[in-house]
Amino acid sequence: MLRLARLSHSSARQQARKTAILSVNRPIYLKNEVKSGNIVDYIAILLLICMRAPIQQMQWTTANTKQQETHMPRDEIYTQQNAGTGTFEFNEAVVDVFPDMLRRSIPGYEASIRAIRALARQYVQPDSHCYDLGCSLAAATLAMRQGIDVSGCRIIAIDNAPAMVSRCKQIIAADKSDIPVDIVADDVRCTPIDNASMVVMNYTLQFLPIDERQPMIGRIAEGMRPGGVFVLSEKVVDEDPGIEALLIDLHHNFKRRHAYSELEISRKREAIENVLVPESVATHKARMLAAGFQHVGVWLRYFNFVSLVAIR
Ligand SMILES: C[S@@+](CC[C@H](N)C(=O)[O-])C[C@H]1O[C@@H](n2cnc3c(N)ncnc32)[C@H](O)[C@@H]1O
Repeated sequence: MLRLARLSHSSARQQARKTAILSVNRPIYLKNEVKSGNIVDYIAILLLICMRAPIQQMQWTTANTKQQETHMPRDEIYTQQNAGTGTFEFNEAVVDVFPDMLRRSIPGYEASIRAIRALARQYVQPDSHCYDLGCSLAAATLAMRQGIDVSGCRIIAIDNAPAMVSRCKQIIAADKSDIPVDIVADDVRCTPIDNASMVVMNYTLQFLPIDERQPMIGRIAEGMRPGGVFVLSEKVVDEDPGIEALLIDLHHNFKRRHAYSELEISRKREAIENVLVPESVATHKARMLAAGFQHVGVWLRYFNFVSLVAIR
């Protein structure tokens, strides 16, 4: 009896601890719709999460990740013996595991998608266009589709990877909504942008050659309506080499916590090194201001991953 009582006491304690961990890692605001006007709260809470993140490192894997991982094919691309010798590509193999890869590799990714939904609700104007540049599997497109609550809008989702585009079409076809979505197989550097009240580049600009980034941001600004919103999420590099080393270390810890092995981490790093070229936050801000955006700021930073918001 005593042993049973002790056991149930300890399992109750474990349950309480799990609940506490879950509520710290997935605060209520992430589960609820973020209403317009709450962006300042959103920033504050995310900063709080960033500050607390190192303490939570060991807790995350056991309490939270395993449950979510069961729903999506697992990214094991760099576990295979023959993997990791070539450069990273958005091919069929990546498409198959992409949602899992994003979630386990990009700190703050899910928060960026939720914010896109909230910003769509707040900023998308009637009879305007919304763009998802480098849409992959339409996570940001679907977030905009859910957020928009004005009439006459059209979303244009663009990607130049054939495997992404064909899977994206299936995903959009399965999503029931009255808001039309055009999925375009094209290079974002060529796609016309016009009458836009919202443009999203969620972790895509970093794949463009550096000298083509200013013209890209310039074309986005030119194609936007006054008062429109531009969301730019990127991996960044810190100007202080000591902080940069620390942030890389924290990011690798993040990946370890999400069950990537040392081999996977180093192989992916080598494969993506010359494909994804990060820049500093200051460079991104200066570029957006030079392009004609009125207000530019960081709304999310989690280690070396940043999301900026700009108002035209
Ligand atoms: C990291 S993924 C973007 C993730 C996606 N935006 C999301 O929020 O889930 C980058 C995507 O950009 C696409 N891409 C890279 N360069 C591109 C270009 N020049 N034109 C169009 N798409 C591009 C890739 O094919 C890939 O699907």
